[in-house]
Amino acid sequence: MAAKKASSSKKTTASKKPATRISAARTTNSIGLDSVQGKELAEKLNDLLANYQVFYMNARGFHWNIKGDKFFELHLKFEELYNNLVLKVDELAERVLTLGHVPMHGYDDYLKTSVVKPVKNVSDGKKAIQSILDSFKVLITKQRVLLDLSDVANDEGTNALMSDYIREQEKLIWMYSAVLG
Ligand SMILES: [Fe+2]
Repeated sequence: MAAKKASSSKKTTASKKPATRISAARTTNSIGLDSVQGKELAEKLNDLLANYQVFYMNARGFHWNIKGDKFFELHLKFEELYNNLVLKVDELAERVLTLGHVPMHGYDDYLKTSVVKPVKNVSDGKKAIQSILDSFKVLITKQRVLLDLSDVANDEGTNALMSDYIREQEKLIWMYSAVLG
């Protein structure tokens, strides 16, 4: 675990690299980023958004359906989780808009796009937590790709967002993993 964190912290620095200069032939978007890179970032953010939406619904299902002696503890934890996820859903969608694109907003598109699949009828706490860990792994992997792309594109806003999400979720993975023992 420590080794993993060390390697990721290197990537999550939002330090200024020498700016990647945009060729004169390419246009910039309203916040001055290269339009082609901005479009690619928006597409990847929309893909991430789809995964968050499905994960969000799964977390609500865990909150509702959980049973057993850890009910009160997990019922509350899962509520905390889905509230956190839905905040990020909004941040991601608004980042897509800031980049000048349209956030994905149909469940049909979310289901077609998302690698995180709907999980139903889970009442066992450990199964719910395993599913949460699997979903976080998907998100973090996608966010690292966005971290690198946004760095190259000089997109500090997306870069900072991804950096925050990765750091926060790596810690959550440690904590949820500790429950499984
Ligand atoms: Fe509730």
